[in-house]
Formats: sequence, C-alpha cells, structure tokens
Amino acid sequence: MDALETILNHRSIRKFRPDPISDEMLNTILEAASRASTTGNMQVYSIIVSRDQSIKEALLPLHFGQKMVTEAPVVLTFCADFNRFNLWCHQRDADPGYDNFLSFMTAAIDALLAAQNACIAAESFGLGICYLGTTTYLAEPIAKVLKLPLGVVPVTTVVLGWPDQEVPLTDRLPMRAVVHQEVYQNFSAEEIDEIYSERENSALTKRLLEENGLDNLAKVFVEKRYTKRDNVQFSGTLLNFLKHQQFFNQ
Ligand SMILES: Cc1cc2nc3c(=O)[nH]c(=O)nc-3n(C[C@H](O)[C@H](O)[C@H](O)COP(=O)(O)O)c2cc1C
Repeated sequence: MDALETILNHRSIRKFRPDPISDEMLNTILEAASRASTTGNMQVYSIIVSRDQSIKEALLPLHFGQKMVTEAPVVLTFCADFNRFNLWCHQRDADPGYDNFLSFMTAAIDALLAAQNACIAAESFGLGICYLGTTTYLAEPIAKVLKLPLGVVPVTTVVLGWPDQEVPLTDRLPMRAVVHQEVYQNFSAEEIDEIYSERENSALTKRLLEENGLDNLAKVFVEKRYTKRDNVQFSGTLLNFLKHQQFFNQ
C-alpha cells in the first residue's frame, strides 16, 4: 500500500492472531519510527519493545486489563527520554538544562511522532495497531516494570500484530470542525449542533446511549468514559511522577 492509502485506511485493531512478527519486519518498523522528525535531531525518546509474555502480563493490569496487551505479539512503549542525551552531555563536559516542563514536552512530542511513524509502517505491512492511552494514567508503575531511569517517562503505548478482526472505518467530524483557515474561527451554538449532528445520530451513538442510560453523547464522555474525578486523579499522579523523573526542577 502506498503511504496515503495506508493512512486513509487506518482503523484501530483490538484482536490479534497469535502469529509472531518477524524480526526483520519489526526492525523496519522501528527504523521507520527513528526516521521521524525530532527536535534538533536530538531524538529525545526511547522505544521499549515488549515481546516477553511475562513482561506483557506485568503490563496488563497497568493498562486496565486490556487483553490486547498480552494477545498482541509486540507491545511498544514510547517514552520521552532525556536520560541518554543528559548522559552524553555530562560525558562531554556540557551542562544540560533539561530538567523542566518544556523539555518534557519536547521529548513527548519526539516520542509521539516516532510512534505514529511506527504505526504507519506497521499498517503498511498489513499489521494492525492500537494506541493505549492508559500509559499516562499509570506512568509510574509502567516505568517500574520497564525499569525506566530518571529522565524517562512513558507517554504512549502501541500494540501491534496480525489482525484477527475486520472493523469498519470509524467516523470523523467534518473537516470544518478541525481546520481553520488563517485564524481560529470560533463556533456558534448552531455550528456545534451541525458539526456533531452526524455522530450524534449514528447507530453507534444510539447503542452507547442505551448501554449507559444517558440522553446524549457528550454525557457518555463526561460521566462515563473520561470523568473529571479520574482526570483530576491521574493528572495529579502524572505530575508527581514528572517531578520525580526530574522534569520540574526549574
Ligand atoms: C493517545 C491514544 C490513546 C488511545 N487509547 C486507547 C485505549 O486505551 N484503548 C483502546 O481500545 N483504544 C485506544 N485508542 C484508540 C482510539 O479509541 C481510536 O483511535 C479512536 O476511537 C478512533 O478509531 P480509529 O483509530 O479506528 O480510527 C487510543 C488512541 C489514541 C490516539
């Protein structure tokens, strides 16, 4: 598949066949990740490759029991990483000033760009991928399992393997919801209604409302899927971990 076709056909895959991914294919995917742009070409990220079942089993509860963690042959944890760069600076008598939030953002951006390159490369081979947002909820225990040193924080996880399901393309909001020409055009109430109407009237939404006993889709997000309580709690633990990992000293 060419790159554009791969990108336009993306769908998250959550069920995998047990077949392994060859070393050659995995290495190409990792190399594609490393070809992503990074800030100043510093490459301030790391990719932890988990194929060992015992490590994946240790990660499973930290990803809230999402079975694809142990079912997929490969789990990749993408980390913001200033550790290696700092070690190099110290070894060269250069004094790094990267123990701050901006540096965390820099490293997290590098890690996410590498992750998306890996996903596109994997999908171009016919593999399926799914991101796991649970990485930022339980970053500290995940870091423990993966033995991440100071200066390294996991920012996202991608499971990959051979798809064992066929899933339709998921919907997207109309382009005018996300693209603004020249400057941001804020939305009127009518425009918000219009932008969300197709999604709100879909069969999937109807099912979600029935399952959750709620009267609109926004409430499914706010009251069930991404609650304030969870966000405040995980935000606090993530901030504490960023401090511990020395991204908040200055
Ligand atoms: C940062 C991030 C975190 C995600 N976390 C999860 C997750 O924990 N579990 C899951 O099943 N899907 C997860 N997803 C997949 C999204 O649910 C999915 O991308 C979205 O519903 C759109 O569907 P599509 O990828 O098939 O187009 C995540 C996606 C992203 C980008």
